[in-house]
Amino acid sequence: MATRKKSEFGLEGKVAIVTGAGTGIGEAAAHKLASLGARVLCAGLPGDPVDEVAQAIKRRRGKADFFEGDLSDPFQAKACIAHAVNTFGRLDILVSNAGVTLCADAAETIGDDEFLRTMHANVFTTFFIMREALPALKKTHGCIVATGSVAGLKGQPGDVVYGGTKGFVNAFVQGLAVEQAVHGIRVNAVLPGVTDTALTHAGRSAITKNEEKTMTEDIPMQRRGTVEEIANAIAFLASDLASYITGALLAVDGGYAVSWGGVDEVPARLKRQPKGELEGVLKFTRHGGFKKNNPDPRAERGRH
Ligand SMILES: NC(=O)c1ccc[n+]([C@@H]2O[C@H](COP(=O)([O-])OP(=O)(O)OC[C@H]3O[C@@H](n4cnc5c(N)ncnc54)[C@H](O)[C@@H]3O)[C@@H](O)[C@H]2O)c1
Repeated sequence: MATRKKSEFGLEGKVAIVTGAGTGIGEAAAHKLASLGARVLCAGLPGDPVDEVAQAIKRRRGKADFFEGDLSDPFQAKACIAHAVNTFGRLDILVSNAGVTLCADAAETIGDDEFLRTMHANVFTTFFIMREALPALKKTHGCIVATGSVAGLKGQPGDVVYGGTKGFVNAFVQGLAVEQAVHGIRVNAVLPGVTDTALTHAGRSAITKNEEKTMTEDIPMQRRGTVEEIANAIAFLASDLASYITGALLAVDGGYAVSWGGVDEVPARLKRQPKGELEGVLKFTRHGGFKKNNPDPRAERGRH
């Protein structure tokens, strides 16, 4: 029987866990890794269609299994890692993707339950599954790819708690990358911008048609990303092609993170610039650089 040629990705036979694999980005990542030859454990909450995703991978001649459990619970996270190792014999790749995307409100209006739900879904799931995966990843010199968010790069009004939890993911990934480099483990994150999932569709979530439209206005590429585009970046960072990349936060966002900075509805009085304050102090010389224009004579005297 002819053996399949090893691809540049080097994922053939590797064992990957994808958390939040029942839907959206995680589902796409599970399919992508399996299509590149990885054996995939699809993990998700009880009731998530992780079994269906695993079945779909197997129908395409891939290798997959599934695990159901709340991964914000340390015991379930440990059980998930054990399930992968017991089923496939090793662990090479952890895609820590489970989480929630909330179109949240201002801090004052966020209730205790919503805050705790977001912390559990985005922070607890990240920490517990990564901590529990490390002993197995040390044996294979494996890697971790987390799904952060561009919302975690910079605080934004109306997105404070979600952005805060993703800020944790981004910083944790960078710190862990430095800690684990000595063990040959790479740790990176993909930071999706607005991505084409149920949550960003009017009719399939709480957002209105108008919100759906304005969502893309600030994106240089003027559209949402697809789950496959995010999965491609995840697969790249998990692959041998990224062998010298660790601690990276790779924004996959149509240019959003490098272009933002606009503010809505600012009162005119706040827009006044400190006009003239610098006059008489510094000016550009024709040859470049700065030159004192009208120096304070007392300051000048003090220099001599
Ligand atoms: N969709 C976007 O626009 C967007 C943007 C930036 C970041 N993200 C991030 O991408 C990741 C995937 O989100 P998505 O858009 O595919 O949404 P999604 O809701 O389709 O997928 C998230 C999955 O995680 C699972 N999950 C949540 N809590 C869990 C837990 N405690 N244990 C196990 N599984 C759990 C959910 O059941 C769900 O299947 C999330 O971390 C999200 O914050 C999404």
